[in-house]
Amino acid sequence: MDAIRVEHLIKEFDGVRVLNNINISFEQGSVTTIIGPSGSGKSTLLRCINQLETATSGHIYFEGNDLTSNSVDLNKMRAKIGMVFQSFNLFNNMSVLENCIIGQVKVLHRDKKEAIETAKIYLEKVGMLHFQNRKVTTLSGGQKQRVAIARTLAMNPAIILLDEPTSSLDPEMVKEVLEVLKKVVSEDYTFIVVTHEMDFAKEVSDRIVFMENGEIIEDGSPNEIWHKDSNIRLKRFLNI
Ligand SMILES: Nc1ncnc2c1ncn2[C@@H]1O[C@H](COP(=O)(O)OP(=O)(O)OP(=O)(O)O)[C@@H](O)[C@H]1O
Ligand SMILES: [Mg+2]
Repeated sequence: MDAIRVEHLIKEFDGVRVLNNINISFEQGSVTTIIGPSGSGKSTLLRCINQLETATSGHIYFEGNDLTSNSVDLNKMRAKIGMVFQSFNLFNNMSVLENCIIGQVKVLHRDKKEAIETAKIYLEKVGMLHFQNRKVTTLSGGQKQRVAIARTLAMNPAIILLDEPTSSLDPEMVKEVLEVLKKVVSEDYTFIVVTHEMDFAKEVSDRIVFMENGEIIEDGSPNEIWHKDSNIRLKRFLNI
C-alpha cells in the first residue's frame, strides 16, 4: 500500500519552476533516500509533502486524502507526517523531556502522564534518556539531533521525513546520529530521507531516488542505482 502518492507536482517560486511534474509513490514501511545536487529540489519536495510549502499544482495523497485540497484538515494531517530538519528545530529554552512532550500534549491532546511515558521510550531508543532534564542549549549537535528524532517518533507519525539530518554536524557526531537512524529505520516506519551520506543510503534504503533540476531522473534499489551505466549525470554525482 502507498503511504504517500505524489501526482504531477509542480512547485514554482515567483514563476521559477523548482519541481517539474514529480510523480512518485512511497510504499508503507519502506525506506527511500533522495539524493541529488544542491538546488535540485529535494528539500522543496519534502516541504511540499509536509505542506510547509503549497504546491503550485498537482496532488499529494496521504491516507486517501488529497493534502493539496482546501477541505483537508492540515493540522491533523501534519501531525501524522513527522519531519526532522538539518537544524534540529528544538525549543532551546526547554529541557530535553519537555521538547519531547509538548507536541504530544498540544497537537495530539495526550494527557501529560502518557506523553512523558511515550517520550521516555523514544529518548531511551536514541540513547538520550539520561539527559532528559538537560536544557537543549547544553547539548552537542549530535545529541540535539537524537532528541529531535525522539521527539518526532514520540508523535507516532505514519511517515517520517528527514532533510539532511546529519549535514550540520561535526564528523564524529554524524556517526552517532547515523547509528541511531539505522536502528530506527529498521523498524516499521515509512521513511523518506534526503541525505548526502551515500554509504548510509546504500545500506538502509529500499529505494534511492536521484533528483536533478526539479525532476526525478533515476529511481531504483541501491543495487540498481549503483550499477546503472546508463545515466552519466548520476554516475558523475556518485563519482563512480
Ligand atoms: N522559499 C523559496 N523562495 C525562492 N526560491 C526557493 C525557495 N526555496 C527554495 N528555493 C529554490 O528552489 C530550488 C530548490 O531548492 P531546494 O532547497 O529544494 O534544493 P535542495 O535539493 O534541497 O538543495 P540542497 O542540497 O542545497 O539542500 C533552489 O533553486 C532554491 O533556490
Ligand atoms: Mg535541501
